[in-house]
Amino acid sequence: MKKILIVGGGGYVGTELTQKLLKNNYVTVYDLFYFNWLIKNKNKVKNSERLFLIKKDILEVNKKDFKDIEIVCDLAGIANDPSSDLNKKYSTKINYEARYKFAKIAKESGVKRYIFNSTCSIYGFNKKKVFEKSKINPLSCYAKAVQKAERKIYLLKSKEFKVNILRNATLYGFSNSMRFDLVINLFTYLLLKNKNIFIDGDGKQSRPFLSVQDISRMYLHIIQTQPKSFIVNALSFSTNIYDLTNKIIKIIKKPKTLVKFNLEKKDHRNYNVGSKNFKKYFKNFKFTDLGKDIKKMIKNIKKLNLRPNIKTIRVKFYKKKLSRLKY
Ligand SMILES: NC(=O)c1ccc[n+]([C@@H]2O[C@H](COP(=O)([O-])OP(=O)(O)OC[C@H]3O[C@@H](n4cnc5c(N)ncnc54)[C@H](O)[C@@H]3O)[C@@H](O)[C@H]2O)c1
Repeated sequence: MKKILIVGGGGYVGTELTQKLLKNNYVTVYDLFYFNWLIKNKNKVKNSERLFLIKKDILEVNKKDFKDIEIVCDLAGIANDPSSDLNKKYSTKINYEARYKFAKIAKESGVKRYIFNSTCSIYGFNKKKVFEKSKINPLSCYAKAVQKAERKIYLLKSKEFKVNILRNATLYGFSNSMRFDLVINLFTYLLLKNKNIFIDGDGKQSRPFLSVQDISRMYLHIIQTQPKSFIVNALSFSTNIYDLTNKIIKIIKKPKTLVKFNLEKKDHRNYNVGSKNFKKYFKNFKFTDLGKDIKKMIKNIKKLNLRPNIKTIRVKFYKKKLSRLKY
């Protein structure tokens, strides 16, 4: 059993990852718990006797936080473009400076492996298909900050301190700390409620996708196989937004849905992503099925009465939160 610290582990990805890793490990979640499902449900989580929660800002990290910790999974931050744009100075401080400092102190404290959740949006607008060694082109404040953090954290790698960078595609699927500001999740919700779909731009923008269950399983795979340091694009499929919409309509069986285009709101992010490294480090990895994940999400939306609100739309939450911060 390993001792793992998940920073940002109370969020959309972290809540699922924490539950997966608890099966065979001790897990400490270090988070401000802006989204508090784990705090509220700590005792209901399986193997909760191995779960420890630290409510703390990443800006306040110190060596004591890493006592006996072997592996850090880094998911912390202000996790999308519109939320980061609300206060660029503060979000750069968190998404770049604080995340880098966190990794540096982890290394100095004897942590052996650092798994960093990066983003495919660092490729920005790119006409050609991009791979791990392609030129990056981060467009937003969010993508620029994460890319800087990724670059400097990767430079920390050594024989004793392995660094694994997972450049995440846009994620989708049910999490106990749900997000409806992710395109597949939002469109699923809207279709379920018999609403029309509005696509920003002409829908031809290409985007990679990955299930939140798959990213959690990728962490598990790294922890089990102990690979050397690497950078990997983490995606299961790429598609343009129009085709994606039709796929979801087909899965949910809502053929009469009206799909409209908001041509004034152009979406400049367009990246068709592949991976040259994935198979090398994730042998025999099987991705989950989009249809299966969407059906599971629908079941939980109904059962838990989930909906887009301040807890599930990050920009709504940060609008309120950041208005109180002086930066
Ligand atoms: N969800 C996606 O589609 C996606 C895609 C690509 C990359 N990522 C990256 O994956 C990571 C996790 O994404 P997510 O969807 O789970 O986001 P999330 O917003 O659900 O989770 C982020 C977590 O960070 C915590 N946090 C924020 N500021 C903090 C601070 N100052 N100190 C301590 N904790 C703080 C929040 O409380 C939250 O639990 C992020 O770094 C994000 O950039 C996510």
